[in-house]
Amino acid sequence: MGCACARDHATDERYERLEAALKEWAGRPGALIPALHRAQQIFGYLPEDVMIRIAEALDVRLAEVYGVATFYSFFSLKPRGKYTIGLCLGTACYVNGAAEVLAALEEALAIRPGETTKDGLFSLSVTRCLGACGLAPVMTVGEEVYGRLTPAKIPGILARYREKEA
Ligand code: FES
Repeated sequence: MGCACARDHATDERYERLEAALKEWAGRPGALIPALHRAQQIFGYLPEDVMIRIAEALDVRLAEVYGVATFYSFFSLKPRGKYTIGLCLGTACYVNGAAEVLAALEEALAIRPGETTKDGLFSLSVTRCLGACGLAPVMTVGEEVYGRLTPAKIPGILARYREKEA
């Protein structure tokens, strides 16, 4: 297997599922993207040791694996929080104050877009138009949509999720 952490992996069933998927794809052309997808489904993101293992199993260069993983925005190289916040920075949202809402989110979460809170609860991202411009400014938290946002509404919205976990 060639991985220094093979012993830990033996007790982690996620690595067994990864191995099963890789067995299916080894030797098939065009297997890299589906393999990365599967790995992200299993782990929630693409840890470095997983990318090394995928390169080895599919016989592609590690640089190529990194290249693909960083090119497509649906792949994440960092762990994501339990709830992903997507704040729209499309035109309608922007002119209605999305930048101030973003500043309020950054302050309340103490992170910047692309980062995850220390407690692993929230990841923050900015998005293009979410197709709900009539509600601008808009953000999603997981599957839920919040519109007509103001900076003052942010602490209350975040508190709902924090309370769920308390
Ligand atoms: S611009 Fe934000 S929802 Fe359309």
